[in-house]
Amino acid sequence: MTAMPSAPAAGVSRPHESARAQVAGGATYIDDMPVLRGTLYAAPILSSIAHGRLHGLDCSAALALPGVRGIVQATDIPGDPMLAAFAGDEPVFATDTVQHVGQVLGLVVADTVLQARRAARQVRADITPLPAILTPQEALAANSFVLPPVHVRRGDATAALARAPHRLSGTLEVGGQEHFYLEGQIAYVVPLEQNQWQVYSSTQHPGEVQHWVAHALGLDNHAVRVECRRMGGGFGGKETQAGHLAVWAAIAAHKLRCPVKLRLDRDDDFMITGKRHPFWYDYTVGFDDDGLLQGLQLRMAANCGFSADLSGPVADRAVFHSDNAYFLADVDISSYRCKTNTQSHTAFRGFGGPQGVILIETILGDVARALGRDPLDVRRRNLYGIEERNVTHYQMRVEDNILDPLITRLEQTARYRERQAEIARWNAASPVLRRGLALTPVKFGISFTATLFNQAGALVHVYTDGSVQVNHGGTEMGQGLHTKIAQIVADELGIGFDRVLATASDTSKIPNASATAASAGTDLNGRAAQFAARNVRDNLAQFVAGLDQCGAGAVRFAGGQVITPRSTRRFEDVVQAAYANRIQLWSDGFYRTPKIHYDKTTLTGRPFYYFAYGAACTEVAIDTLTGESRVLKVDILHDVGRSINPALDIGQIEGGFVQGMGWLTTEQLVWNERGHLATHAPSTYKIPATGDVPDHLQVALWPEPNREDNVFGSKAVGEPPFMLAISVYEALRAAVASTRPGDRAPVQLTAPATAENVLRALGRL
Ligand code: MTE
Ligand code: MOS
Repeated sequence: MTAMPSAPAAGVSRPHESARAQVAGGATYIDDMPVLRGTLYAAPILSSIAHGRLHGLDCSAALALPGVRGIVQATDIPGDPMLAAFAGDEPVFATDTVQHVGQVLGLVVADTVLQARRAARQVRADITPLPAILTPQEALAANSFVLPPVHVRRGDATAALARAPHRLSGTLEVGGQEHFYLEGQIAYVVPLEQNQWQVYSSTQHPGEVQHWVAHALGLDNHAVRVECRRMGGGFGGKETQAGHLAVWAAIAAHKLRCPVKLRLDRDDDFMITGKRHPFWYDYTVGFDDDGLLQGLQLRMAANCGFSADLSGPVADRAVFHSDNAYFLADVDISSYRCKTNTQSHTAFRGFGGPQGVILIETILGDVARALGRDPLDVRRRNLYGIEERNVTHYQMRVEDNILDPLITRLEQTARYRERQAEIARWNAASPVLRRGLALTPVKFGISFTATLFNQAGALVHVYTDGSVQVNHGGTEMGQGLHTKIAQIVADELGIGFDRVLATASDTSKIPNASATAASAGTDLNGRAAQFAARNVRDNLAQFVAGLDQCGAGAVRFAGGQVITPRSTRRFEDVVQAAYANRIQLWSDGFYRTPKIHYDKTTLTGRPFYYFAYGAACTEVAIDTLTGESRVLKVDILHDVGRSINPALDIGQIEGGFVQGMGWLTTEQLVWNERGHLATHAPSTYKIPATGDVPDHLQVALWPEPNREDNVFGSKAVGEPPFMLAISVYEALRAAVASTRPGDRAPVQLTAPATAENVLRALGRL
């Protein structure tokens, strides 16, 4: 095949590498893989009690059912009965105590998946119930924490509040969110020879799955190989929680000496796996007549569920983002990591950032109402400055702030001022339906706050026909990471995109890779892949320079050609000749993010390499009789730096926004008084449907490259747009406020803004 592309491979829109295969059913997910002969299927045995003493399981009825091959319990674990999670506080299977409804007590293994599931329901657990803690408020009162509280202070909030001309106090409750990846959690574990193991896992973190499985089986990491070609969505829900499934399936496979597949039924997935952390806050804020903040005291309580999981870093990120875009001079934040008898809550797009941002945006909206000012004016008044007022409460200088020009542009293109006036007139004539408009910004820190995770590796192989394979430590979950990385490699080698194939994530190719998370997948792995490709290119350049008697620096790679001052050759001809001359045609690449450092005891330093910025202007309508709402019109201006692939970036912005809109409007998790998650299926848990997406959803990209030296001049895009949806919540609160002119009190709207919660905010329920 000869490719003579004229367009550059990177910086242009092109479809996701699997888009066609996915719509045609030709892209393989783990459950599509042909299974090996002798494969058995596992199903989990769940606790029906939120907290209690576990005395034992009666499995006799289950074992008598057809097809059942065995029961797997904690006593079957060859290695450590505790998961290798960093806090060491999670048993693989519950043993003496159960800690939430849905906790996994063991597995039934059978010939078919339906036999296993049916039998799992016949297992009787003998449990003596104990009092359960179900809300963060109860946990605070009982001092029930998974990790110690963290306090971050700057200046003197108490004195600033005492001086402030105005003060507001309030509380806020923000619900969690189910990941609702379309492909549920799954693992397929195959025993190989000599106690070696092959694991197929739908995971954002193959390296951790490898480590956890090895730990549970009592083996060295090198005996376990984990592979993931793609996930049908992860959204943070497969950062740690995929590991549990792989460990469970591996223990079953070890006991029964067969390949074992464990695929969760959707209801079980809801009951077992952790979600976005629900948060509860109380605060006191001071401000002057212009709405400039003067002192903020803030208590945030994260509902972490029964174990730490990633709650420490999630709650930290909420603290880091409680400023969002605003300079907080005198601030005092206390963050509580509450232990409750629910699923262990985990990473979810934004990773605590949304839970930090929503509180300050709520405060600024209420401050504006208290003063009778436009909320955008109050927001602008508090933005970080360029020369001064530019250091965060965790002592990082904000050097790349583009919010002032970005908001100005969006304010104009979305006609914010004119529409505020139009909506005020419209509302005055509409007693039942009310509209609201809000423009909110986002500033989101990019990098893992745990500095050590900010490293990545890649391998680039050039074959003798000039085709290229790239493998890297990241995982594909629909976000387009493989597409972007293939573009970067093609760009580096000056060849067409079609000549580069990105292959499945595999712990035997790239070891010790970080989770694909924190939006840093392309930043980290893309750079590593670029460096690997650059090494091969340098080898080829040196070889050609020798042939043409020129400097290697004079050799260019472009349009599928290798060009020197004396000749132009096809890339594949150069590769062929280089191979014949025994030149290395493959290389590794390694990258670590520069400049970052951070003291995790004080939460100070430069945890982020840079910030991604954006703003959204959203118009909503509410029906004041039913509480129903609709998002009518959304304009977004978002900063992705120099885009590697604008189509994918816009897709991430749209998807992130709509997912955030779901979090704040319809996606309500309800645990009943017994701690049972009542909303455990699409019948009762409502994610946005295509019909909920507003007809007008305009996304524009900010035209400047990243000011930091990041791959291709790009910026991370996976998570930041999620928080643009806070404009929906603020627009809803504006619509509620329009029903009570002259009332300057805060609008108390619990998130998600379901019809019931909107009616409550209206004082009608
Ligand atoms: N987009 C799709 N389609 N599916 C996903 O699961 N996960 C999000 C985001 N976008 C996700 C997604 C989350 S939580 C993160 S951290 C990033 O993608 C991870 O990928 P990246 O670092 O390559 O952007
Ligand atoms: Mo994303 S929450 O960092 O996986």
